[in-house]
Amino acid sequence: MTDTLAPAADTADPMAADMHQVDQVIHQRLASEVVLINQISHYIVSAGGKRIRPRLVLLFAEALGFDGPERFELAAIVEFIHTATLLHDDVVDESALRRGRQTANALFGNAASVLVGDFLYSRAFQMMVGIKRMRVLEVLADATNVIAEGEVLQLMNMHDPDLDVDDYLRVIRFKTAKLFEASARLGAVLADAGRETEEACADYGRSLGTAFQLVDDLLDYGGDTRTLGKNVGDDLREGKPTLPLLVAMARCTDAERLLMRHSIEHGENERLDEILAIVRRTGALEATRDAARAEADKARASIAALPESTARQALLELCARSVERSS
Ligand code: IPE
Ligand code: IPE
Ligand code: MG
Ligand code: MG
Repeated sequence: MTDTLAPAADTADPMAADMHQVDQVIHQRLASEVVLINQISHYIVSAGGKRIRPRLVLLFAEALGFDGPERFELAAIVEFIHTATLLHDDVVDESALRRGRQTANALFGNAASVLVGDFLYSRAFQMMVGIKRMRVLEVLADATNVIAEGEVLQLMNMHDPDLDVDDYLRVIRFKTAKLFEASARLGAVLADAGRETEEACADYGRSLGTAFQLVDDLLDYGGDTRTLGKNVGDDLREGKPTLPLLVAMARCTDAERLLMRHSIEHGENERLDEILAIVRRTGALEATRDAARAEADKARASIAALPESTARQALLELCARSVERSS
């Protein structure tokens, strides 16, 4: 296992130098006197991840003309919050694989994962206080609270094959889109952009985050475990009624619907291959990708009024990549 926090040098990434700075802040701020905290937090952080949320902070700050060092701190903060939610989420979802490695819960146990997640959350709040802006605290306190609501709402929706699409969308807006929204908004907050601009950035984040989770849910059926670094089929095993299943259930035969309902109710994926075939045949994967594409289009439209810049261009391209991604 390599223990470097910096992703492999990526000369094709125009943000490589900035992301390296973010990695340095992450590395410094992870430090704890408690050995197990260092072990687990380094274990998950050194596995990389796409680091999309910190990129949003940096790109919006740049697009709006802010280049102070607080942007790196804030980028690390949103990645810490994200990492904390992953540690907790993998316990709740009983997942075994993350970022191509065994999950922290599989390796160190549930208790240690939950507690180190708490460490990362509270470290993020210590860092926020250091930024000395009440608005930053307000945005992130609200976001973390909504994420927790989203995870609990999702728990309540488990094993319910009658969940409607609006309730499903509500969960993903809370559990995922909220942190994208906060990350984008914070770039604008740092730059002291006016309220209207701040809301446009927040809208972009919310729509992109929704598109991102729709694709995540699609890849849980249509993706490949090695490319994703996560086990496909986990959502069905958990009895999570996500959009690919909801669409397929609306379009399949009665007998197929019974099979799918049974799998959601009992959270079993022994018949994953059959269900996958139904999901494929009914066009549910394309329908999910289309829903993601529509959200990404909304995201793009939200920042149409931002001044032309390379950062704005990168934000527009991120929309397309988030929809077409396979990892
Ligand atoms: C995973 O997020 C959790 C979701 C919200 C779908 P990412 O796909 O951004 O995870 P990493 O950080 O790249 O591993
Ligand atoms: C994202 O949902 C959860 C968070 C926002 C933490 P998932 O449960 O689908 O995420 P993965 O697939 O485990 O990364
Ligand atoms: Mg999960
Ligand atoms: Mg998922």
